[in-house]
Amino acid sequence: MTSTLLPLDPANVQGDILVGLPKKVQHYLFFQIDDDVAAFRKRLHLLIPFITNTTQAQDDRAKIAAHKKAAVEQGKNYEFLQLSGVNIAFSQFGLTKLGITDDMGDTAFTDGQQKDSKNLGDAGAPGADGEFVPNWIDAFKGQIHGVVLISGNCDLTVTATQATVLSIFNVGARITLHEVITLKGVVRPERGHEHFGFRDGISQPAVKDFDTKPNPGQETVRQGVILCGREGDVDANEESEKPFNRPACALDGSFLALRYLFQLVPEFNNFLKASSDPTKGLTADLLGARLVGRWKSGAPVDVFPLADNPAAGEDVLQNNNFRYDFPNDFETQDRCPFAAHTRKTNPRNDLEGPKIGVPTENRRIIRRGIPFGPEVTPEEATSGKTLHGRGLIFAAYCGSITNSFQFIQKSWANKVEFPPKEHVNPGFDPIIGQNKDGPNGVGPRSMVGANPSDQSATLSLPVEWVVPKGGEYFFSPSISVLRDTF
Ligand code: HEM
Repeated sequence: MTSTLLPLDPANVQGDILVGLPKKVQHYLFFQIDDDVAAFRKRLHLLIPFITNTTQAQDDRAKIAAHKKAAVEQGKNYEFLQLSGVNIAFSQFGLTKLGITDDMGDTAFTDGQQKDSKNLGDAGAPGADGEFVPNWIDAFKGQIHGVVLISGNCDLTVTATQATVLSIFNVGARITLHEVITLKGVVRPERGHEHFGFRDGISQPAVKDFDTKPNPGQETVRQGVILCGREGDVDANEESEKPFNRPACALDGSFLALRYLFQLVPEFNNFLKASSDPTKGLTADLLGARLVGRWKSGAPVDVFPLADNPAAGEDVLQNNNFRYDFPNDFETQDRCPFAAHTRKTNPRNDLEGPKIGVPTENRRIIRRGIPFGPEVTPEEATSGKTLHGRGLIFAAYCGSITNSFQFIQKSWANKVEFPPKEHVNPGFDPIIGQNKDGPNGVGPRSMVGANPSDQSATLSLPVEWVVPKGGEYFFSPSISVLRDTF
């Protein structure tokens, strides 16, 4: 790729990567391309005008904000604007099917997520041919060529847009795109909160050449390399940090790690109750906050270690302005356990600070997932057992799967020695950490530091509350590349 690049044009980047597609409902339509590849390509070109680009996603967000403001000013009930967004991405299997032979320069992407699932620590066992087979649903065990993301204000809008997309690809008996499975996400009644009840989607990296200020307004949230082929797209897993030798079709596209993650909510809640000790100040809420790194409101425990602060959770200036660099933060877990989910997945000054001094911009991801499944029923709450499938369709854009998503899961969340501390091994990320070294690929997990007044005590985590049931790695090309190369 040449070094004389034109400035970034947001209208050339698919929506959802740098600006989330506005959504109350989102469908992920996983597909295979028909053997008549030429017919599929023709149809793909008809889809391009329906794809929402970054500028349009920004405009849609501005429209929604203005509409809400007007409703408040006029004292009216706010009604959702009828808006939908579309984006498309391809797996390595899909690129190969289309005859695109360029090496995208990312081993995990090239191998596909099923092959990578062992590295991620997913439960599973060797199949008949000796190859590792994860405990996923069947739909994800075959080859998936691509995914169409369709988002919108309600189920009706999204279903109608999905029908339009399918009609573009299927004309009469001529089917050029075969639907493998559609995952349907919907925001929870407690908007912006995932199924364990914690506010999500707060901390995202700012992207150079696009964001004019750190996201969402604090200098402590550093840059992330999310688009391919631009400055900073280097191999952080190599000591020399060489720029990736990306093909021209990678420019201004982004990799997308999709995971179908089930959450065992009643089991998680029961554990918090059973392991808390309110008489000694460790309430179930405090324990949950210390496992996640944030209170349910989103307020970070590093800034608010003793009690939730809902106002701070709402306030973008307070809910992300921390670095694990209060005096003693590097050595002690007074405020936040080293193994807390947010600290494991974005260690801030544990790595970037003066003690270690390693930049992490190539490890950052932009998360755009959405919950799926029903709310916990009274029966489940009473029994403490999950009876209905629910969880998170996890979607993360990044400049490299191998450098960031895979690395975060494998070398940070699952690694008991991370973040590196002289006196203690922090343990597993209690939310997503996986130990496949046990019967049926699920081994014991524990962490230290959950209890602020007994920080060396080991807390055993009885089950893996987040259970992967599928996923794939995709590449979301720029609009001009879709037009000219696909
Ligand atoms: C942050 C929940 C899966 C990476 C968060 C936050 C919550 C959360 C509540 C705090 C909100 C925020 O900072 O934006 C969950 C749940 C998951 C899950 C319930 C599974 C069902 C994952 C996975 C990864 C990941 C699989 C990557 C391998 C991150 C990152 C952050 C984050 C990078 C931001 C940390 C920061 O910048 O401070 N997650 N997460 N999460 N999560 Fe997860």
